[in-house]
Amino acid sequence: MVNDTSYSGSGLVLGIESSCDETAAAVVERGIRQLSNVVASQIAIHSPYGGVVPELASREHLRAIVPVVDAAVREAGITLSGLDAIAVTEGPGLAGALLVGIGYAKALAYALGKPLIAVNHLEGHIHAVLMESAQQFGNPSLPATGPLLALVVSGGHTHLYLAQQRDGMWHYRNVGHTVDDAAGEAFDKVAKLLGLGYPGGPWIDQLAPHGNPLAVPFTFAQIKPKAHRPGQHTHQPRFLFSFSGIKTAVLRYVETHDMASSIATRRQQLTPQNLIPDMKPSDALAFCDQQTLDLLASFQRAVVDDLKRKTFAAAEHYGAHGLLISGGVAANRELRARFTETAAKRGLPIAFPALSLATDNAAMIAAAAWSRLASRDFAPASLSARASLALGAEPALP
Ligand code: KG4
Ligand code: ZN
Repeated sequence: MVNDTSYSGSGLVLGIESSCDETAAAVVERGIRQLSNVVASQIAIHSPYGGVVPELASREHLRAIVPVVDAAVREAGITLSGLDAIAVTEGPGLAGALLVGIGYAKALAYALGKPLIAVNHLEGHIHAVLMESAQQFGNPSLPATGPLLALVVSGGHTHLYLAQQRDGMWHYRNVGHTVDDAAGEAFDKVAKLLGLGYPGGPWIDQLAPHGNPLAVPFTFAQIKPKAHRPGQHTHQPRFLFSFSGIKTAVLRYVETHDMASSIATRRQQLTPQNLIPDMKPSDALAFCDQQTLDLLASFQRAVVDDLKRKTFAAAEHYGAHGLLISGGVAANRELRARFTETAAKRGLPIAFPALSLATDNAAMIAAAAWSRLASRDFAPASLSARASLALGAEPALP
């Protein structure tokens, strides 16, 4: 059993995150108090390709890791010797990118004689919200008891977890996932298809309120969980998402509604060379006709509705005492508004991360490491990248 109140060290953890296209480092005290949170984004590097190029990501992590860690320690107002542990993302993510963070964290831990803690990136996203909820001492936004339902919705994941704290440790059970694209991937691909910038989520988020969300009726097929396997006795539903169909439906709409030339013009206007300096997604309104805005609004409404329907159905099925929504897509304003509205109607506490903690960062990695530090659950010196690392036990298939 973990007794984190009796932990006698400083509780200062340096988190390092390099699983995708952000090199990040942060110092967090006892899983709650953020002393620094530094993120070097590679968006400008990958933007011309409309997606993350793994080789470029590894190279940029190599360039950024030393200055980013230095900045995180400096901004925290501490020295490396004041740390109690180094935590690093073990997976899932791009193997080459993960290895940069892991290699650096291992070297630092060894040189300082401090323990190394391995963190699952998905658990990190969940802790981005738990950390903030816990910061509201005396009045946390999420209940401490009972299972919480966590939706982790990002460029690489659309997963539902039941999260429960027992004996000071968090336990997770995977109760839903996407069978193909992640929701953020759908935002990125639709934005690219319509000639908008990368990553697509923030662009669509800014433009969608200017369109009619009911203009294009998109539907989602109901996905049945795989048949019950012999030898499995429990019948539990899985909540399955699929976002590749809506991407194809948007493509078909574009082809049948004569949108090619307006897309080509916009793509030309918004190429990195032609971009207005410091252009923000909200500035793209001038480059979009009403048909495009209606399509974006309808796409976003359909994705948010599907996420909402299945998340609330899962919460009800598993008797969740609260909801937490995390990952890059949790930054979406329509998603936040509609989830908040439904949660209020059902009397369910709900929490989202601050925008700076929704997308990839290292504060969430340092926060997730706290219970492992308190229970002395350290990583071996042989720690390596696990590109497909899963979180939580899968429930038995129905
Ligand atoms: O969590 P994250 O930074 O990285 C992954 O672990 O994938 O999430 C990035 C994803 C991208 O697909 C991006 O388009 C999406 O989050 N995203 C958004 C918004 N901000 C970022 N999607 C919708 N609305 C947003 N405001
Ligand atoms: Zn992420």
